[in-house]
Amino acid sequence: METNSIKGFKRTIYCGQVRPGDIGREVTVCGWVQRARNLGGLIFIDLRDRTGIVQCVFDGAEDAELSKLASGVRSEWVLAVAGNVRARGEGAVNPNMSTGQVEVLAVRLRVLSRSETPPFEITDKTDVGENLRLKYRYLDLRRPALQKTLALRHRALQATRAYFDSQGFYEIETPIMTKSTPEGARDYLVPSRLHEGKFYALPQSPQQYKQLLMLSGFDRYMQIARCFRDEDLRADRQPEFTQVDLEMSFVDVDDVLAVGEGYVKSLWKSVLGIEVETPILRIPYAQALERFGSDKPDMRFDFELINITDIAEKSGFKVFSEAVAGGGSVRVINVQGHAADFTRKDIDALTEFIKGYRAKGLAWLKLAGGEMSSSFAKFLTKEELDAVLARAQAKDGDILFIVADADNTRALQSLGALRVECARRLGLMKPDEFKFLWVTEFPMFEWSEEEQRLVAAHHPFTSPMDEDIALLDTDPARCRSKAYDLVINGYEVLSGSIRIFDSALQSRMFALLGHTPEDAQERFGQLLTAFQYGVPPHGGMGFGFDRLVMLLAGTDNIRDVIAFPKLQNASEPMMASPAQVEEKQLRDLHIKLDLSQPKSAE
Ligand code: AMO
Ligand code: AMP
Repeated sequence: METNSIKGFKRTIYCGQVRPGDIGREVTVCGWVQRARNLGGLIFIDLRDRTGIVQCVFDGAEDAELSKLASGVRSEWVLAVAGNVRARGEGAVNPNMSTGQVEVLAVRLRVLSRSETPPFEITDKTDVGENLRLKYRYLDLRRPALQKTLALRHRALQATRAYFDSQGFYEIETPIMTKSTPEGARDYLVPSRLHEGKFYALPQSPQQYKQLLMLSGFDRYMQIARCFRDEDLRADRQPEFTQVDLEMSFVDVDDVLAVGEGYVKSLWKSVLGIEVETPILRIPYAQALERFGSDKPDMRFDFELINITDIAEKSGFKVFSEAVAGGGSVRVINVQGHAADFTRKDIDALTEFIKGYRAKGLAWLKLAGGEMSSSFAKFLTKEELDAVLARAQAKDGDILFIVADADNTRALQSLGALRVECARRLGLMKPDEFKFLWVTEFPMFEWSEEEQRLVAAHHPFTSPMDEDIALLDTDPARCRSKAYDLVINGYEVLSGSIRIFDSALQSRMFALLGHTPEDAQERFGQLLTAFQYGVPPHGGMGFGFDRLVMLLAGTDNIRDVIAFPKLQNASEPMMASPAQVEEKQLRDLHIKLDLSQPKSAE
C-alpha cells in the first residue's frame, strides 16, 4: 500500500549498521533501492542510505501480496522496510559488505517515492563524464565515495572548531559583501541598488578584517571563511573555496607556525588517526627552489636538484657552456636505482614534458649493467664526465637528467617539474603517505612581466624580515619577508605572514608597489587610519581547507570534496549558474549590458 506518509514506519536503524548482533530483532530501515533482483520465489532488494547497504528479502511463500508489491520496485525508489534480521545462508555471506553476514526478512514494505531511471547508475565505479554527473549532482552525491568524503569533511570541520577553541581562538564572522582586498586574483563584484554605480566586492580573503580585529583587541581570531576569487581554475582551485583563517596578536613567526602545526596534528589525528611528527621541517624559499626547483616541494621522494654549473661552464658542450655564459645554470637530478624504468620512449616523453615548462631540451645519462648510455656524454671530456657523475653520486642502476638554461629560474623550475613527473611515473606519490614541510622566508616582491613592476609576493601587509629592512631602499627585489607556506605532498595548503604593524612602513610598502598616496588612501585608507590607534604586532595564516580535505580523502580533484563545485570554466551545470537576470533587475541596479565587447578568454 502506498501512502504519502512515513507513519507506521519509524526508522529504528541505519541500513549500513545492521549486524549479527541484531539477529532476531525486528527493524525498520529506510533508503534508496541500490538494486532489486527477482528470483521468482525470492526477491532481493539492496537498500542504501548514507551508512551503507543492507539486503532485504521478500519471500513469496510467506507473503504473496507483499512479494507482489516488492516485485514492482525499481532502482532508486525510496522505501521503508520493516522486517526481522536473520543470518544469511551458507555461501550467501558477503565479506565485502559491512552488513554482509545478515539480511532483513521483510514483513512490511512501503513505497515512499518512485524514481525515473537515473541518467547514470549510482555506483562508485563510474566512467560517466563529470559534466553529466555535476548536472545531476544530487544523484552523483548518492555515490558512497562522495557520501564518505563529505562525512570526512564534516569531521574535519568539527575537529577544526574544537582545536581552535581549545587554543583560545574566538570564531568571528566577517562580511561577504565588502570592498576589494588584494590576494592577487580578480574580484567577484555585486552591484549596489542603493548606491548607483557602486559595487561590493566578495572577499578574496578576510585579510583586512582580521587584522582590524587584532587592533580591536580580540587577540586570537579564527573563521571558517568562504573566499571568492575570479582566477584561472585548476584541479586544486575553485572560484569559491573555504579557508581556515586565523590571526594572532603579540606573536612572531615561531608562535604562528606552532599553532599551524598543532592544527594539522590534531586534524590528522582526529580524522585519520595518524600522528604527525612535529616540529615540521622548515626550508627557506631560496633553498626550496635550489634543491627541489619548486616553492612547494613534494617530500615523499628524493631526486634533489644538484648544481653542476661550475663543471658545465668550462665544458666544450655548447648546450651547457652557452647556458652558463648567458647567465643561467645547469642542473641535474639523479633518479637513483631507476635506470631500468626509463626506456628511450619514456625519455622522449619526458623531453616533451619538460618542454611544456619551456626548457630547451633534456640531457640524460643511464648507468645500467655496467654500461653507460647518454645523450651528451660524448661531448664532455673524461674529467668533466667524471666530475658530473661524482657530483650526482651516480652509480650503476641510476639515471641522470640534466637541464641547461640561460634562465636560472627556468632551469630550476622545469627540472623541478620533471622531478615530480618521474616520481609520478614511478608510482612514488602514494596518497596515504604524508610529508609536511614549511617553506619560509619568501621574497617580499615578485617581478610581474605583465605589469612590468614589482608586485607583492604574498600580499602588501606582509612584514619584511628584520635583517632585510634596509634592502627596501637599496635592492627591494632581494628583500625577504616573514611569509611562510605549509606544503603537504606538493600542495600549498596554507599561506600566511607576520604583518606590518607600523603605518609609516605600511605606507612605504604601498608606494613600493606602485600605489600613489591617494590610491593607497582610497583602497586601504581604513587600515592606514586604524593603524594610527595602537596596533599590536600580529600575524596569521589561511589554510586552504578544501585542499586539506583533498589530502585527507586521498583525492587529487578538489571537486570531489565540495558538495556543489564549479566546473573549470566557473559555471555550475546543476543550477545552471551563472545565469541571465531579468531586465527589471538590471534596471534596478543601474546596469546596461554591452555585449559587443569580445568575450574575455574562457
Ligand atoms: P592565500 O591567497 O595564499 O593567502 O590563500 C591561502 C590558502 O588558500 C588556498 N587557496 C585556494 N584553495 C582553493 N581554491 C582557490 N582558488 C584557492 N586560492 C587559495 C591555498 C592557500 O595556501 N589572506 C591570506 C592568508 C594570510 O596571510 O593569513 C591568503 O588568503 O591553500
Ligand atoms: P644536440 O647536440 O642538440 O643533439 O643535443 C645533445 C643533447 O643535449 C640532447 O639529448 C638534447 O636533448 C640535449 N639538450 C639540448 N638542449 C638542452 C638543454 N637546454 N638542457 C639540457 N639538455 C639539452
